[in-house]
Amino acid sequence: MEQIHLTKTQYCSFNKKVVFQITLPIILFTIITLQLVKNISIKTPSNPIISTSYINNNEEQGAPPTESDTRIKKCDLYSGDWIPNMDAPYYTNETCWVIQEHQNCMKYGRPDTEFMKWRWKPNDCELPVFDPIKFFEIVKNKSMAFVGDSVARNQMQSLICLLSRVEHPLDVSTSKDDNFKRWYYQSYNFTLVILWSPYLVKTIENDPNGRTGKTFWGLHLDEADDVWKDEIDKYEYVIVSAGQWFFRPLIYYEKGQFMGCRYCEIDNLTEYSLSFGFRNAFRTAFKAILERESFKGKVYMRTFVPGHFEGGEWDHGGDCLRKRPYKSNEVKVEGETLELYTAQMEEFREGQRLAQQRGLSLQLLDMTQIMLLRPDGHPSTYGRPANLTWPSDCVHWCLPGPIDSWSDFLLLMLD
Ligand SMILES: *[C@@H]1O[C@H](CO)[C@@H](O)[C@H](O)[C@H]1NC(C)=O
Ligand SMILES: *[C@@H]1O[C@H](CO)[C@@H](O)[C@H](O)[C@H]1NC(C)=O
Ligand SMILES: *[C@@H]1O[C@H](CO)[C@@H](O)[C@H](O)[C@H]1NC(C)=O
Ligand SMILES: *[C@@H]1O[C@H](CO)[C@@H](O)[C@H](O)[C@H]1NC(C)=O
Ligand SMILES: *[C@@H]1O[C@H](CO)[C@@H](O)[C@H](O)[C@H]1NC(C)=O
Repeated sequence: MEQIHLTKTQYCSFNKKVVFQITLPIILFTIITLQLVKNISIKTPSNPIISTSYINNNEEQGAPPTESDTRIKKCDLYSGDWIPNMDAPYYTNETCWVIQEHQNCMKYGRPDTEFMKWRWKPNDCELPVFDPIKFFEIVKNKSMAFVGDSVARNQMQSLICLLSRVEHPLDVSTSKDDNFKRWYYQSYNFTLVILWSPYLVKTIENDPNGRTGKTFWGLHLDEADDVWKDEIDKYEYVIVSAGQWFFRPLIYYEKGQFMGCRYCEIDNLTEYSLSFGFRNAFRTAFKAILERESFKGKVYMRTFVPGHFEGGEWDHGGDCLRKRPYKSNEVKVEGETLELYTAQMEEFREGQRLAQQRGLSLQLLDMTQIMLLRPDGHPSTYGRPANLTWPSDCVHWCLPGPIDSWSDFLLLMLD
């Protein structure tokens, strides 16, 4: 078992990096998370009523927009609560083949299943549950790229699993690297890819300018990452996200010049806030896409989603043991999550202005608050064999699990 894990190259090397390299930043991150959850009292929902979703079959293809469609567009999709959904999950680890070991919680013995059985209910409208046929109808003859880190990959795998009720894709990856997977749906001529770029911008791994004995990433904040920038116009849909990697020790460059850092403890170098690099990475990414003449697609920004470590730091026994979502009035976005979210939203608005000038579309997948409410959906210790003692994973999401809901939002915004 251990060997299998250690030879699963990409994700594992990420995991090892998580374990050994990002101590201080994640600890700080965790402390804030802990403060956040300390004051929460969990009320048991009193016999919640399950509203029936109004689209639960695939027969309504090509219908003109109905009154309820119009209502959705006006409704604030992101104010609401998680409500029980006995129809979920829509796949299992046996029907979907792409679940990453570390998110295959059922395989590793997670005893409870309630965490799979919720859907997001906006206060003032219904969010239709993901309909794979409708999705394929929209994306046929097109292609979609996820640009980001392992949470972006988690989202893509969730989408593939939801689509597996209709079709399994062919693996047409041109590289053996799991971080650059390419999937093809034959019946719909639809291509789906992940372009691994946790910082969105050009990076230097093990920046030699860092302090010895510590691993630094150097970020060229004004240069988009080569792994995606020159091929991005091949995609009609681009979903951009970033997150936890910005908590690491970083050195920032602009115009090729050393400008400052985060957690670097180097004499005379300016120390920047957490959101500084994050903000600039999104600014640069949006410019690289939206100013590209041949780009004609739609862009989506997925907002930062916090982890849920409780009872200890992430590498000192912190875990995520809750079995239910919070109610929306029980927790609120604050601390470093709020800092990142605010920076990201400001860049989003700038990006929207740019998109408008070019007649393009930049839309929001605002998952921060929604996922803050889901401490119950992480692998915890069920992302690995029980006898391995890696820290619990309270950052990624079990499949099936709450991340499946992201596709509900995505589908609504593809039209
Ligand atoms: C799926 O999960 C079950 C437990 O629910 C486990 O026995 C099985 O090995 C898993 N299968 C795969 C392919 O992961
Ligand atoms: C997809 O592309 C093929 C070949 O260009 C074309 O024949 C077909 O009509 C297209 N389908 C849709 C739905 O646009
Ligand atoms: C598939 O879609 C691409 C556009 O993305 C188009 O150029 C091609 O002709 C299509 N192929 C088929 C077999 O429909
Ligand atoms: C830092 O600044 C001090 C005073 O300005 C200077 O003497 C020293 O050489 C600088 N150190 C480095 C590493 O640049
Ligand atoms: C974990 O258990 C498996 C079998 O259950 C065994 O093959 C493996 O060596 C064990 N690993 C450790 C680190 O104990």
